[in-house]
Amino acid sequence: MLFDTHAHYDDERFSKDADELLSSMNANNVGLIMNSCSSTDDIPRIFEFIKRYPFVYASVGVHPSETEKLTEKDMDILAEAAAHPKVKAIGEIGLDYYYNDPPRDIQKKWFARQIDLARELKLPIIIHDRDAHADTLSILREHHAEDIGGVFHCYSGSAEMVREVLDLNMYVAFGGTLTFKKSVRPAEAVKAVPLDRILIETDSPYLTPEPHRGKRNSSLYIHYVAEKLADILDMSCDDIEKITTENGLRCFNIQEDI
Ligand code: NI
Repeated sequence: MLFDTHAHYDDERFSKDADELLSSMNANNVGLIMNSCSSTDDIPRIFEFIKRYPFVYASVGVHPSETEKLTEKDMDILAEAAAHPKVKAIGEIGLDYYYNDPPRDIQKKWFARQIDLARELKLPIIIHDRDAHADTLSILREHHAEDIGGVFHCYSGSAEMVREVLDLNMYVAFGGTLTFKKSVRPAEAVKAVPLDRILIETDSPYLTPEPHRGKRNSSLYIHYVAEKLADILDMSCDDIEKITTENGLRCFNIQEDI
């Protein structure tokens, strides 16, 4: 069974059919899903999913684009939600310099604060790094993220940067962008990651892989990512499935036989 390590079923694009979709996962070889959180407003909906579906786990955290109005009260909300046994990470947190909104200093402040929260709670982190590699790495180092580990979601760095990511005890997750034509750089990055540190994800409803690019994404398309990975690494899909699922369980400390 495949493990989609990053999806957003609380997104409004799933408001009509999230249950229908999630009910169809196991019959389609999707055995585990990590629902990633973007703001404290998402938490009630995410909790409905983790309570209803045994194979859905969650993170709680605030995406860099949502940090403008954050206060310490939000950190209390995250800490309280993280007490649920199916909350396995703090995320997605990080820096987004593509939009630069809110300003960088606000994004940096709350990225650092949420790393510290993860450390207090002894949870790994899910990192969103868009066009912000240098600052992301330096904040992770300053706040000793290597002690808690986690994952660079939708990895967009270079093959050279992989070494620095590994030194921080992070896993490296690849998604639909790997299947896009002209995506030479991610393929090189894939080859630079040791097999025991690779994860796969969809980031549903975003980043739909080929051949469905342009449509809404769902975890039912995770196999396209696995197949592309198998192709790049010259391995069988079965091996990729086994390896990435085991890695996901280890990354998020999930005790489950699958
Ligand atoms: Ni995401």
